Amino acid sequence: LSKLPLVEGVLRYTKENNVSLSMPGHKGGLGFKETLIGQELYESFIKCDITEVDGVDNLHLPQGIIKEAQELLSKYYKSKKSYFLVNGSTSGNLAMVFASFDEGDKVLVERNCHRSILNAIILRKLRPIYIKNKVHTKYDAPMAIDMEHLLHIINLNKDAKGIIITYPNYYGICTELEFIIKECKKNSMKVLVDSAHGAHFGVHKDLPESAVLLGADLVVMSAHKTLASLNQGSFLHVNNESLIEKVDFYVSAFLSTSPSYMIMCSMDYSRYYLQENGKQAYNNLLFNSKKYRRLINEIPHIHILDETDMKSIDLTRYVLNIEKGYSAEVFYKYLKSKNIQPEMCDGRNVILIFSPFNKEEDFNIVYNAIKSCPIEDMKEEYNEVIINEIPAMVLQPYEVMNRKRLWVPLKTAIGRVCAGAVVPYPPGIPLITLGEEVDKNLINMIEYYVKIGNTVLGIKNKKILVLEDEHEEGITYYI
Ligand SMILES: Cc1ncc(COP(=O)(O)O)c(C=O)c1O
Repeated sequence: LSKLPLVEGVLRYTKENNVSLSMPGHKGGLGFKETLIGQELYESFIKCDITEVDGVDNLHLPQGIIKEAQELLSKYYKSKKSYFLVNGSTSGNLAMVFASFDEGDKVLVERNCHRSILNAIILRKLRPIYIKNKVHTKYDAPMAIDMEHLLHIINLNKDAKGIIITYPNYYGICTELEFIIKECKKNSMKVLVDSAHGAHFGVHKDLPESAVLLGADLVVMSAHKTLASLNQGSFLHVNNESLIEKVDFYVSAFLSTSPSYMIMCSMDYSRYYLQENGKQAYNNLLFNSKKYRRLINEIPHIHILDETDMKSIDLTRYVLNIEKGYSAEVFYKYLKSKNIQPEMCDGRNVILIFSPFNKEEDFNIVYNAIKSCPIEDMKEEYNEVIINEIPAMVLQPYEVMNRKRLWVPLKTAIGRVCAGAVVPYPPGIPLITLGEEVDKNLINMIEYYVKIGNTVLGIKNKKILVLEDEHEEGITYYI
């Protein structure tokens, strides 16, 4: 047994020297090495791990260099005010939800939103109305929200105080944000955008437009996912001046009072890099991305999603779809065996996240690996991906917290209130979530996913977590 398991484990991983096609965007530090100032920062990182010593300002009351850097950030993204976040987009999502809504407010939210949004909804005691996500039946990938469903939901819920949209999703797929903003503004709803994967949007004409420029009230971006920032570095942008005071408060409430200057410096550098080199860097990246996408798409059984499949998609990202009847998990393991580190895999798709710091050599390595991939060894039985209607909500998610819960066999759960989300991968969209009622149709669906061997979060030994009835002895279980 190791005396230092974490340190040894991480060091072991670094020695693998993988081609980094996962987050963070600086790709093992390469992003810093591209400029003189970045190189200096890279070499001095550990020394930059300081506290609020003289002359370096205070994130919770910025008056000096942090204020200056945040103003440059705001100017670059064309927001009314922008913030550095050192606890990731998770803290940004919490802050924007708390700043925009009060307890009991009704909000429209995409079914497939990130867990930090769902947690914010619970903590702020909001009443969510879910909007369905579509699934691409050819690729089994979760798509943007269903527009017809959205308009229907808006019509039925004109009293909603706002909407929370993910733009883009993990697959780089973008919803029609401009249209959504227009429709929601007609009904005086605030538009909050989780753009965790879209910090680079708008830098180049062939990328989707930035959510800030499209006019969302609040936008969160993970600078660490696609830009040069260290992990946890995120931006929050405010377009709606009336929210600034509250955002000031909640950002401060959700962030550490010992913010990392290494992370903050890396965020300042990320913005600087975009501003100084972004156009050219993304030009090169998109050139390589398109060139190798074409080549890889000639290889049988593999297809990289592109603008012919989706109206709007981030072309810097590869969603490598494997044909029905082949296993993306085995394909993922194959890429790993070739020292390629993908971001994730969902059963039909392997996602590679490229940033400007992945040069042509990395694309070439991926192309050659796929070209020599023994794909015929990756056959598996194909099972269709299906999604259900959103189940009826009987309690608000926050009402489920602090109630006794217990695991019951799926077969006996009909009519009970769900106390933990059930999410099959693929497609990664919750079949049921907190406060919704379990019905026969849902159980069939879960049994189907368990039977075909998909990963199903929220199911243990064919049991589901539900609220306890009076006569039962339950457990208190926090998610
Ligand atoms: C859509 C989305 N939003 C928010 C987050 C949370 O971001 P962070 O890791 O910066 O806290 C993620 C993380 O993967 C995400 O995919």
